Amino acid sequence: MQILDGKKTSEDIKSEIAAVVQKMKDDGQKVPHLAAVIVGNNGASLTYVGSKVKSCQQIGFESTLVALPETITESDLLTKIKELNEDDNLDGYIVQLPLPKHIDEQKILMAIDPDKDVDGFHPANFGKMALDMETFLPATPFGIMELLERYKVETAGKHTVVIGRSHIVGRPMSILMSRKGNPGDSTVTLTHSRTKNLEEFTRNADIIITALGVPEFLKADMVKDGVVVIDVGITRVDDTSNPKGYKITGDVDFDGVSKKASFITPVPGGVGPMTIAMLLKNTLLAREMRMQK
Ligand code: GUN
Repeated sequence: MQILDGKKTSEDIKSEIAAVVQKMKDDGQKVPHLAAVIVGNNGASLTYVGSKVKSCQQIGFESTLVALPETITESDLLTKIKELNEDDNLDGYIVQLPLPKHIDEQKILMAIDPDKDVDGFHPANFGKMALDMETFLPATPFGIMELLERYKVETAGKHTVVIGRSHIVGRPMSILMSRKGNPGDSTVTLTHSRTKNLEEFTRNADIIITALGVPEFLKADMVKDGVVVIDVGITRVDDTSNPKGYKITGDVDFDGVSKKASFITPVPGGVGPMTIAMLLKNTLLAREMRMQK
């Protein structure tokens, strides 16, 4: 069994990006600038956005945190989005999800300039992804593809079972794994909350990508020997022995499943750090695209 080490791989990617940024600086060019918009005080979202901004500083990007109150109106948020679209000094930005219930998430994502949409959530970018055109890939699926590639995990002709059909992970993952190329060329089954007899699919899977948010859902008796397991779950579970009062738990019963797996991602230290690295990679791409305009 080999661990797909997202922590180490993400550090490698960040070093590669930092070297490009240093060269930009040496050549007197503007460095990439990423902004993150956060609305309200969701603890997990604040942590993720904090890590994104910190990583920017680590690799020499310019970064801006736009923190807005939970009570902001949809129209005021749209005004802020328009400002970010028009800010020539900014290469890319993300709006951290979920947004408060009184705001129409789709309306906000539609308002983001696709050329600055480094999350790849705008329908124009999502459509390009599905049509094999060059675009920003959503950071989590992009990170998983990168891990599979760097660890040379065989995906062609394999049966990949994706659990969860979210717009951020499951749906794009199912598209990317079925695309032509490496990684890709998989036969994909996209399963979800209404799937019957899920174990029948997971037991026949060569590769399982789970993005469900149910701690330790995938057990050893649900997988076959040699399976490749990618765990996207990051649920906070109460843990009094931890100073934070919680621990981060994946969708996979790691102790059981890892005994049968050929490759597996740990939680934490698997997919999570890759998401941030790929967001930075998209921001670098956004800068390079703007330089060519
Ligand atoms: N919420 C959970 N994951 C993500 C992500 O990758 N991007 C944004 N913007 N929000 C998220």
